[in-house]
Amino acid sequence: MVYRICLYLVFSFFAHLSWAQNNKEKAEKLVSQMTLEEKIGQMAQLNITTIMTDSLQKHYDSVRTYHLDTAKLIRFVTQFHIGSFLNGRGVSKESWYEYMHELQRVNLTHSRLKVPILYGVDHVHGSNYLKEGTIFPHNINIAATFDTTISREVANVTVYETSGLGHHWNFAPVMDLGRNKFWGRYYETYGEDPVLASQMGTAYIHALQNNPAIAPYKVAGCVKHFIGYSDPKSGWDRTPAEIPDQILREFFIPSFKAAIDAGVKTLMVNSGELNGIPVHASHDILTKLLREELGFKGVVVTDWLDIISLRDMHFVAETEKEATYMAIHAGIDMSMIPVTTDFCRYVKELVQEGRLSEERISQSARRIVELKYDLGLFETVLPDKNRLTWIGKPESKAKALHAAEESIVLIKNEKATLPISPTVKKIIVTGAVAQSRVALCGGWTYRFAPKNDYWFPKEMNTLLEGIKKEFKSSKVIFVAEHELATQAKDADVIVFAAGEKEGYAETDGTIDDLQLDSSQVAWAQTVFALKKPVVTVLIEGRPRLLGNIFDRSEAVLWAGLPGGEGAQAIAEILSGKTNPSGKMSFTYPFKQGHIIPYNHKPSEYTTYREVSKELKRYTIAEFGTGLSYTQFTYNHLIVSDTALKATGKLRATVTVTNTGKRDGKEAVLWYVTDHVGSITRPVKELQHFEKIALKVGESRAVSFTILPEQHLSFPDKNGKVLLEKGQFTLSVGDQKQTFRLME
Ligand code: GLC
Repeated sequence: MVYRICLYLVFSFFAHLSWAQNNKEKAEKLVSQMTLEEKIGQMAQLNITTIMTDSLQKHYDSVRTYHLDTAKLIRFVTQFHIGSFLNGRGVSKESWYEYMHELQRVNLTHSRLKVPILYGVDHVHGSNYLKEGTIFPHNINIAATFDTTISREVANVTVYETSGLGHHWNFAPVMDLGRNKFWGRYYETYGEDPVLASQMGTAYIHALQNNPAIAPYKVAGCVKHFIGYSDPKSGWDRTPAEIPDQILREFFIPSFKAAIDAGVKTLMVNSGELNGIPVHASHDILTKLLREELGFKGVVVTDWLDIISLRDMHFVAETEKEATYMAIHAGIDMSMIPVTTDFCRYVKELVQEGRLSEERISQSARRIVELKYDLGLFETVLPDKNRLTWIGKPESKAKALHAAEESIVLIKNEKATLPISPTVKKIIVTGAVAQSRVALCGGWTYRFAPKNDYWFPKEMNTLLEGIKKEFKSSKVIFVAEHELATQAKDADVIVFAAGEKEGYAETDGTIDDLQLDSSQVAWAQTVFALKKPVVTVLIEGRPRLLGNIFDRSEAVLWAGLPGGEGAQAIAEILSGKTNPSGKMSFTYPFKQGHIIPYNHKPSEYTTYREVSKELKRYTIAEFGTGLSYTQFTYNHLIVSDTALKATGKLRATVTVTNTGKRDGKEAVLWYVTDHVGSITRPVKELQHFEKIALKVGESRAVSFTILPEQHLSFPDKNGKVLLEKGQFTLSVGDQKQTFRLME
């Protein structure tokens, strides 16, 4: 049997290789038949609004249906040979189906070579640009599950619901490192750790791109935004980032390298500047680093308007034509233009002037056409009406509920305030986000940056509705701040929902103060004055600073952006139906003046030069922490050796026991500390994690094998791998074991 499996795997491997080679050859052949203009057209991507009827185009953000302006499309296809379109809003599945069918049909009818159109959409947390789609928690939550199977599920449901509509290019996952807590896209990241981001993102990519359940359709992922986008110095989106090469290589590049090694088919470029150079103009980054060092062979797409931004935002080019030259020379393949066709003219002129070779254009055209062959678009490009029934199934929503449940973090629970007994008489729900759907889902939900519930389905629960449904035998009422004093006298417990009230995305999410807004802080003081048990639920895309709210609440749940099923997930944790198992995917800051990650450097807090006591507290919940309604103990950490050769491996095993009164799940996180390094070493670094379920009284041996080069090394500023002998400490739970790496 084993023999046959091995034979099958070998056969599949070589079959895939030959299929891939075959696609490469087919792409070369087809591109060799193309005119220069047709090759340039493959490099051009336009927004959906450019082929929409004028009336809809004028009111794009409020469209409820799509209608293709066939004449506009025919012009783009016949005169400019446009090879890709993008974007969308949460319109109905029927509207999407009609639109995508007409788009591809018109192209097949009017284009000379019948090269299918590549259509890209931002389904970044489930099928979020589809009215009936399943809305998952955002990545910051998915990471907090510490369960990569959940990240796979997000991709599985997304492609299951959208590939049949002809959405075969998904602009996901974001694998930028979540380092800057002010950043308006913080919630789109998998948090502050490179290992966590790498494993969550690659699990998503594998499921997105290799999914037999949606055959014959295939979907391409798009890792974004390469590189250094997520730590702008000011925290403002698309503003300058200054990240030294060594830090870039140790913390920001690993997740993108993991995505490339996982076979991600496309990559999107960082709109911003890094160390003074806009990434879209950087040959060092987009060719030397990305292609030559990291080995990326797929399609590189610019971000929105980012060639023109080289002129208008970065001022490194005097003209759009010069900007076009810079970006293509740097290494982009496709321009997300996205609403003009001048790009096509400029590229043609640059070739005719000899500044760009036709071979350079052919190179990008081949990559793009090969991608279209890889996706099977030449065989299957039209949407399938029979798959409209695949959208919004209860089992898909159940997966979104499961993801939300596993992602919510219990960060404080004093006096056993939680879970709230189902027999409790009166629960008062209050707070600015208690009756909001958009607060639960955040940006990229039906609209780019939805400001209210207008576009949200009425059947999606608000937190208040979720709690009412969960506590059927209790009196559950929403009370506004000004009525609390009168209405709360007989309340048993108060649920205070705080956080961010509107959906935001990108620059739209820029702030200059991380504090929770003052009206909510004041609301909290009114709540605390009631002298009742307070459960604070944080619903937000980034960690707003809480003042005294954390210390004055008996219990605190971090819910992040838990998605369309998030209200039910929160309510089931409040009632104890679900035992919370999430752990922080980032370090929640305590004060604005000292925002650092868990894997900070020793000199941040050195006893060598002590800071005053009150300054020592830097977080209300550190990365990797989270409570449960049961207790887990860690014992018997055993290592195979305490002296490890650079070519050897060290096997570590720890026993985890559920010593509490409820079944539960525990994310087992393994950290390594390098005691001394030629470049300062973080106080600890996550190297491995897995989530286990333990019944009451159950014990499980959990193992981790340390491979020195993978788990103990670090890069220098040139990317050279440094593996240095000396003392290391392995820690898991409250267990620690020191060992030595020999020469
Ligand atoms: C935006 C975002 C990018 C998104 C693209 C297409 O500007 O930066 O993440 O995929 O445009 O919507």
